[in-house]
Amino acid sequence: MHTAHLTIDPAFKIAPVSRRTFGTFVEHLGRCVYTGIYEPGHPTADEDGFRRDVLHLARELGISTVRYPGGNFVSGYRWEDGIGPREQRPRRLNLAWHSTETNEVGVDEFLRWCTKAEVEPMMAVNLGTRGIEAALDLLEYCNHPSGTTLSDRRVAGGAKSPYDIRMWCLGNEMDGPWQTGHKTAREYGRLAAETARAMRALDPGLELIACGSSSSSMPTFGSWEATVLQETYDLVDYISCHAYYEEKDGDLAGFLACATDMEHFISSVTATADHIGATLKSRKKINISFDEWNIWYLSRHQSATPPRDWPTAPRLLEDHYHLADAVAFGGLLITLLRHSDRVTAACLAQLVNVIAPIMTEPGGPSWRQTTFHPFAQTSRLAAGDVLRIEPVSPTYETADHGDVPLLHAVATHTEGEATTLFAINRATDAPLSLQIDARALGGARIVQCTTLTDPDVYARNTADAPDRIAPRLNPDIQHDPLTVLLPPVSWNVIQLA
Ligand code: AHR
Repeated sequence: MHTAHLTIDPAFKIAPVSRRTFGTFVEHLGRCVYTGIYEPGHPTADEDGFRRDVLHLARELGISTVRYPGGNFVSGYRWEDGIGPREQRPRRLNLAWHSTETNEVGVDEFLRWCTKAEVEPMMAVNLGTRGIEAALDLLEYCNHPSGTTLSDRRVAGGAKSPYDIRMWCLGNEMDGPWQTGHKTAREYGRLAAETARAMRALDPGLELIACGSSSSSMPTFGSWEATVLQETYDLVDYISCHAYYEEKDGDLAGFLACATDMEHFISSVTATADHIGATLKSRKKINISFDEWNIWYLSRHQSATPPRDWPTAPRLLEDHYHLADAVAFGGLLITLLRHSDRVTAACLAQLVNVIAPIMTEPGGPSWRQTTFHPFAQTSRLAAGDVLRIEPVSPTYETADHGDVPLLHAVATHTEGEATTLFAINRATDAPLSLQIDARALGGARIVQCTTLTDPDVYARNTADAPDRIAPRLNPDIQHDPLTVLLPPVSWNVIQLA
């Protein structure tokens, strides 16, 4: 048995919980859109062809923001293909994912879905094959009230009021050689700056996101952010980060520590942004939009042959997550919250079928993957302020991340209401007894503790057994002193009152 302790004191606030931390991502990739959110003819389809079962699960997941339409897809996308009468929309090659795009779903359909799901859209513009003009046209189409050709086309299509989209991504992963229209940092920085300037002339209140690095292992990591921010500092609000993790070579213990890389990523980008701010004598702070994060078995995808026959909505990137994935995933969520002072927006990539918490079968059921649960619980229960709790925990050695604590945790607190602790036990060999010093809360007690665990760390949820892995009540709690027993390889939510 391992032991650890931490202190919860509402005086030590990091920042308010940002609802935008609980964003996700819908890309025209595989079956995320088609047979994911949209499937006319499905038994649950509504009048617009959206699957009601998926809408229901998206609401249960508690998502706040949805990034669209890509991803790598956006860098070859002509947004005009997706508006107007469906029968006149062109079919195009989706170069990023070697498939055929039917354009049955475009901007208007996506925004209608957002209204139904009660989420905020985050729109990305194509700075790969296109540039300032297409970005301005899309913005005018979406946000200008009426009286111009583009805004009147939107009105004619049935959307009388402007969509008033606030958050816009200036391209996607432009540092990656795989990106259509890949650029050097200086080339991208200049284009992002001029696009931002023009977009602000049309709509000054936008929140703009410049592309940061596609991962912390990119050869240009650090210098990319510095150069891009030199060009864009006064014109953007966010720099993006993207990170995906997977278990490699059977190193489960190292994989469970992957949030350590995310911690390093966030601290490095924050330091770089602040350095550029200092050189510019600016008091402005650039925040982080961690707008792609997840567990993704990318090496499997990279070793697969891309589809040769340009299929429509093929099964791509359909990772089936197990318990250990959900625990590593929970660690990433904890890290995002721990950095709420600078990470004020984030998107789990993606929402349905494609490396997703929700899976569907065409014409069939939908179900929750293991990773659904940490996200849904945190989105529902993280509220008020994020607290600095400084866990004291035994550590273990990993090949990739050095010495890492067995316990990774964060707490949130709403004055006079609830305090919730989110914690993972990374130990693969034994439970961890966690003692909580909550004296500063004045007689707090544990109201409930739920735990996500399983004797088989590689157990998954499937269409036939959709609830094999789900949070269950943890009976191993004591009140004096406040103590919870966290099973090995587990995600835990402890509610105090
Ligand atoms: O989310 C899948 C892909 O990962 C996105 O299209 C791209 O931006 C990233 O490399």
